[in-house]
Amino acid sequence: MPFYHKLGDFPHKRHTAFKSKKGHLYEEHLMGNHGFSGLQSLLYTIRRPTSVLEVETYHLAKWEAEPPPGLQLRHFFSHRLTSQGHSPATERIPMMFNKDVAISIAFPQGTDEFFYRNSQGDEIVFVTEGAGVLESQLGELDYRQGDYIVIPRGIIHRFRPQKKKHVFFIVESRSAVTTPRRYRNDHGQLLEHSPFCERDMRPPTRLKVHDEQGEFEIVTKQENMLNRVVLDHHPFDTVGWDGFYFPWAFSIHDFEPITGRIHQPPPVHQTFEGEGWVLCSFVPRMYDYHPEAIPAPYNHSNIGMDEVLYYCTEKFMSRKGIEYGSVTLHPDGMPHGPHPGKAAASIGKKKTDELAVMLDTMGRLKVAQSVLEVEDAAYERSWLD
Ligand SMILES: [Fe+2]
Repeated sequence: MPFYHKLGDFPHKRHTAFKSKKGHLYEEHLMGNHGFSGLQSLLYTIRRPTSVLEVETYHLAKWEAEPPPGLQLRHFFSHRLTSQGHSPATERIPMMFNKDVAISIAFPQGTDEFFYRNSQGDEIVFVTEGAGVLESQLGELDYRQGDYIVIPRGIIHRFRPQKKKHVFFIVESRSAVTTPRRYRNDHGQLLEHSPFCERDMRPPTRLKVHDEQGEFEIVTKQENMLNRVVLDHHPFDTVGWDGFYFPWAFSIHDFEPITGRIHQPPPVHQTFEGEGWVLCSFVPRMYDYHPEAIPAPYNHSNIGMDEVLYYCTEKFMSRKGIEYGSVTLHPDGMPHGPHPGKAAASIGKKKTDELAVMLDTMGRLKVAQSVLEVEDAAYERSWLD
């Protein structure tokens, strides 16, 4: 995140000796992306981050695509997959992917025994349901329903769910996750026309320092392989840090919708972006206020983009036959729009309670075999009268 944050203790001057009260010299650890020219934080830890006992590649994070299906409008009932996906880190159920981005869903049932580090991509974990704590080497961050938790690559972390039922909708990005460029000034600060600002973004607030030694497993993802890295100490032994590189949360309920006299296009809902994709939040809002306005979206050909919509409630103004947890895929090359009758029915309506997350990708998405069992085969023909 392009704002400065700090927790715990650190020396007045960087790269100078920093000791505990007993005279122990702390380790200094620079973490950041894009080599030494991206966002960075400086961590001070009790032990060396390099004291590795063992490294073992143990699992290929295999994402198997279905055979090319042709140009179909697709619909999957993703919340019907609950018999799988119980680890928030390693048992996610693949849904769709391309070279830039990967979408999965998980139904966590508890805290993993191991820690996790995604070294090949940034993650956005959307908390459809649940609440708890994200533990990390940068501190603890409380999360709740509706949060987007942004975890930059390389940060060791672990979810500690506190409410029993959890649903995570996860987006992994090969490039860094950022807020839309047009909403930021030259200094990185979010501008007045942005639908959210830094005050809405929640960094870690507590630094819990662990001084335990032993064997601590960090599952590390790189090049679609999961590696078991064993440290000789607890990875959360940071006594202080400062900088711009840390996990943070932003609630979809804090997204202030941009509305107008006539229909506003999808970019007004944009929340995040990366190379080859954008993510939008559709939130409860007042409808257009021109007396003849049609609040439902017009038909559109999403040329050059694949469009994925994840329905976080059953209310959505322009579609029929969807349920809570539905995921639709409208591929580049096929126009789509409101279901029959939905445009006319929307005239005169004052507000919507819809809640949905949309991911638009510039590269064609492949559908993972793991979601085919919950596909709605009738969706493609559901626009026929
Ligand atoms: Fe669309």
